[in-house]
Amino acid sequence: MRRYVIAGNWKMNFTPSEATAFINEIKPMVEGKNNCDIIFCAPFVTIASAMEAAKGSNIKIGAQNVHFEEKGAFTGEVSAKMLKEIGVEYVIIGHSERRQYFGETDHTVNLRTKAALAAGLKVLLCLGEVKEERLAGITNEVVAMQTKLDLAGISAEELKNVIIAYEPVWAIGTGLTATPEQADETCGVIRDVVADLYGRDVAEELIIQYGGSMNDKNANELLSKVNVDGGLIGGASLVAEKFTAIVDAAQ
Ligand code: PGA
Repeated sequence: MRRYVIAGNWKMNFTPSEATAFINEIKPMVEGKNNCDIIFCAPFVTIASAMEAAKGSNIKIGAQNVHFEEKGAFTGEVSAKMLKEIGVEYVIIGHSERRQYFGETDHTVNLRTKAALAAGLKVLLCLGEVKEERLAGITNEVVAMQTKLDLAGISAEELKNVIIAYEPVWAIGTGLTATPEQADETCGVIRDVVADLYGRDVAEELIIQYGGSMNDKNANELLSKVNVDGGLIGGASLVAEKFTAIVDAAQ
């Protein structure tokens, strides 16, 4: 039995004080809802205050990116060791906005993932096809290739600390959601690729989230699909009632 993981991706939203207020608001709303893991991935400067507010609750705080080198001349970057030292447990890697706007490739996603795992972080690894690829009927090939490249050199043991977030790029922040059937099918393709690489048992343990305009209205149906083990939620993670409804759908 895989456990649901419901993760919010705040993106570039919430200052430290806004994050404190949000966590204080949502904490009692999700209290005792322990049938899923609840994570919010915060901007770097907001992590500490979010963690402080979440202390003693069932909410975990993660980061949205990490660099692959341990230290050095990489202006503007943050290392896995730095995140680890402040108590971060999860980090998003390879989000499509990083791929689209900041030059991330499968190669750098792979390097970042390896560095994060080596430092003892858990990774929310994002991948997914763009609209043209979906329309051209090559979604399965695209996500299969991304899965292979992003996981290259990662052992079955390390994979236990990886969650894959399948996020069709055309569904992110657009209000367009993959149908539950599309989400299930493509998450299933990813699981099959992982089975080819690591064996079926390992693939059946892997948590695969869907992300892309998941909200309080569509979460129930998406999460009811056998290959969808949770959600990575952008817009709806900024509104306590909406996010709580998604957590409820995972109970
Ligand atoms: P969205 O974002 O829920 O706003 O579509 C999802 C994501 O980018 O992780």
